[in-house]
Amino acid sequence: MKVCTTVQEMRKVRAAFGTVGFVPTMGFLHEGHLSLVRKAKAENDAVIVSLFVNPIQFGSPDDLANYPRAIEQDKALLAREGVDMVFIPEVSELYPSGFATSVEVKDVALKMEGASRPGHFAGVATVLTKFFNIIAPQKAYFGQKDAQQCAVIKRFVQDLDISVEIKTMPTWREEDGLAYSSRNARLTAAERAKAPALYKALCVAQTLVHGGERSRAVLEAAMKQVLLEAGLSEIDYATIVNPETFEPEEQITGNALALLAVHLGAVRLIDNLPLLP
Ligand code: PAJ
Repeated sequence: MKVCTTVQEMRKVRAAFGTVGFVPTMGFLHEGHLSLVRKAKAENDAVIVSLFVNPIQFGSPDDLANYPRAIEQDKALLAREGVDMVFIPEVSELYPSGFATSVEVKDVALKMEGASRPGHFAGVATVLTKFFNIIAPQKAYFGQKDAQQCAVIKRFVQDLDISVEIKTMPTWREEDGLAYSSRNARLTAAERAKAPALYKALCVAQTLVHGGERSRAVLEAAMKQVLLEAGLSEIDYATIVNPETFEPEEQITGNALALLAVHLGAVRLIDNLPLLP
């Protein structure tokens, strides 16, 4: 497995590959990340993974500073998966002094996570535009865990005529239902014990919908009750949205997504579940 740290070297090495599947990550890898890597491996001649904690998508300096990192462990995991190339640029390599450009994303990018974390999706869109230009992958792999991120990416890739196929892969969960996330490592034992309530709340909404319930108010109340009963009261949002626009839906008509963001101490977790098959 080759490790690349500069844009110039990355372009040179990539030119030797045939079709490339690209998996962008911020590292501290878990089974969710590895599921994307395995799919990319199965569908392309070569797999390139980036490990880059992208500073411009973080709102608070504390959140950036506390983001967990384990580069050597990540490299070992990726080598074991048969990844061809890992891209690990320094911040100054991607954002040298004088850097002054941002990809502005609107509509879907301004709802839910976009409203809670202003500038977050512009940071994601900007770094991914750079990666797509540097690596020129045929396919890029993302997790349904970050459903709104997937919607924003599909939108800007289409709008900017970027030649890459965006693939969305299912959310990987621990046995108790908690979605794998690099941020889970920052939960205390007591917070970790409460965390499965996120998935439980989403499942309650799904069960109600399968039983015929269609009202957002009823579904929201049921999700919040599960969270509150588990001792999770710092709820950023727990709602039902249209999976393309991320607008709240008063009454579910077609596809709908249950979506939540909850603070557990210093950690903010998000999760979602499609409600209709
Ligand atoms: P990161 O949080 O490291 O996630 C990298 C990819 O792994 C994303 O596509 C995310 O949706 C996916 N992923 C995370 N948890 C998952 C799970 N439990 N199951 C399946 N897939 C999961 O998302 C980012 O990094 C960044 O915003 C990035 C796209 C790299 C841009 O900086």
